[in-house]
Amino acid sequence: MPGPLLTGKVAMVTGAAGGIGRAAAIIYAQEGARVMVADVNVAAGEETVALIRGAGGEAQFMACNVAQEEEVAALVAKTVEVFGSLDCAFNNAGITHSSPKMDMDVFRRIIDINLMGVAYGMKYEIEQMLKQGGGVIVNTASIAGISGKGTLDYCASKHAVVGMTRSAALRYAALGIRVNAVCPGVIETPMTAPLISDPRMKAHLDGMCPIGRMGKAEEVADAVIWLSSSKSSFVTGQSLAVDGGFMA
Ligand SMILES: NC(=O)c1ccc[n+]([C@@H]2O[C@H](COP(=O)([O-])OP(=O)(O)OC[C@H]3O[C@@H](n4cnc5c(N)ncnc54)[C@H](O)[C@@H]3O)[C@@H](O)[C@H]2O)c1
Repeated sequence: MPGPLLTGKVAMVTGAAGGIGRAAAIIYAQEGARVMVADVNVAAGEETVALIRGAGGEAQFMACNVAQEEEVAALVAKTVEVFGSLDCAFNNAGITHSSPKMDMDVFRRIIDINLMGVAYGMKYEIEQMLKQGGGVIVNTASIAGISGKGTLDYCASKHAVVGMTRSAALRYAALGIRVNAVCPGVIETPMTAPLISDPRMKAHLDGMCPIGRMGKAEEVADAVIWLSSSKSSFVTGQSLAVDGGFMA
């Protein structure tokens, strides 16, 4: 029997206090990685760590606001200090909103977190990965990063994540760093929980997915873990829709 996919590896996940990030942190650990769990939500982030440790895995929490460059730099440095390297980075923290109004303060906040948060992550992760001779990065974009389905600010931020993923993948392909993105469709997480508390909205969202239901955080996380493992060793620069067929 082959062992877990990521034995001996070190993974770092932003936005790991819930939803897709928590699911990924848990599966990274199940696959043998030691995991740095990062989020602005300290209590829920510590809960993710407790879930991993409770199942026999190794994890540590660090508070980090990805919109602050120095906090992201400190997160990468701490990961290396605690675990010795950074092999798999999952830049996942993000926010959204559903107002059709263009509020420029909200626009800037979306860009600061969804775009700059990923840019800061890649900057310090790549620096570390070049030093250690390679690594793998996965960014969370969205179907709003490969279509116009979303607010202007959210689409702008997620299209940028897809673009940065491609650019970084090309730049570092020959240097041992693979960079890919996942583009979740409509996924059941704390982000969408307020919407699906209304049964009519839930039915509408289920109906938007050709598969006939919303996705689960674990279904996105499984794609992230595959992209982080040697099972995808010839895949870089891709933005993989995990959307129950929506983009088809
Ligand atoms: N749920 C969906 O339907 C869906 C669809 C497409 C893309 N996404 C993307 O997936 C990612 C994860 O979303 P989710 O659905 O799991 O949502 P979620 O709200 O459950 O999780 C997002 C996490 O990010 C954290 N976070 C927010 N701002 C932060 C910041 N500045 N610094 C650090 N952490 C911060 C939150 O505390 C939270 O734990 C996001 O990038 C989101 O845009 C989600």
